[in-house]
Amino acid sequence: MSIFEVEGLHASAGARDVVKGVDLTVRSGEVHVVMGPNGSGKSTLAHALMGRPGTSVTAGSIRLDGVELTGTPSWKRARAGLFLALQQPIEVPGVLLEAALTEALAGRSGASQEGDGGQSIDDRLKQEAAAIGFDERFLRRPLNVDLSGGERKRNEVLQLGVLRPKFCVLDEIDSGLDVDAVRAVSGRIERATSEWGLGVIAVTHFHRLLRELRADKVHVLVDGRIVATGGPELAEELERTGYGAYEPGA
Ligand SMILES: Nc1ncnc2c1ncn2[C@@H]1O[C@H](COP(=O)(O)OP(=O)(O)O)[C@@H](O)[C@H]1O
Ligand SMILES: [Mg+2]
Repeated sequence: MSIFEVEGLHASAGARDVVKGVDLTVRSGEVHVVMGPNGSGKSTLAHALMGRPGTSVTAGSIRLDGVELTGTPSWKRARAGLFLALQQPIEVPGVLLEAALTEALAGRSGASQEGDGGQSIDDRLKQEAAAIGFDERFLRRPLNVDLSGGERKRNEVLQLGVLRPKFCVLDEIDSGLDVDAVRAVSGRIERATSEWGLGVIAVTHFHRLLRELRADKVHVLVDGRIVATGGPELAEELERTGYGAYEPGA
């Protein structure tokens, strides 16, 4: 059982304070959903958790199993078991998906190049690709190059399935996906919570992600702060009523 703790987190993007005191505790197997209006700081929060350059933490703490991650480079956080799926995954020309994943797995402490049950990375890639309807031809391409928005999102989930991190931060993993793809992707993530106890922080605008992915907690982020926390019913309410009731001054 692992624990991911965010305490009193303040973070800036560029010169602006965007995340203004966020507390979150996620345990293995739990799904926490973060919803909020455009510009409320969801992506900045996601980037700060992974230590993405361009975002800086100005106060607070990010810990995985008690180990402080704040101030450490992204690759160390990845080795510790954290994974970030970007809202807009970038192209990495010249780097093949399989090569990137082989390196990432080899770099993790205690990880071998073999998957569970002695599966090769190639077999794992194929298995994960099939699970989410990701065309196998893309496995031989440079990372995300010439992939559509929806294919890139699926590629993030494919990488998640092969790397099996302890915790993942998914920034609008459902945006740009058609209905069938949302079902496949959210179903894969839900299975991961029991398969290896993946803990999930999922940023989304849409309740439809939560049909297959069962949320333990839903948090509403407005102006860099969590202003409400509830169960899946909160996501349904937001879908109906919007964020008006939570906006500053409401
Ligand atoms: N690099 C940056 N420089 C300045 N402002 C930024 C930068 N990145 C994001 N912002 C601003 O921070 C706010 C929050 O952005 P973001 O975290 O992307 O919101 P969300 O993901 O909730 O839509 C927005 O007003 C955005 O314009
Ligand atoms: Mg965003």
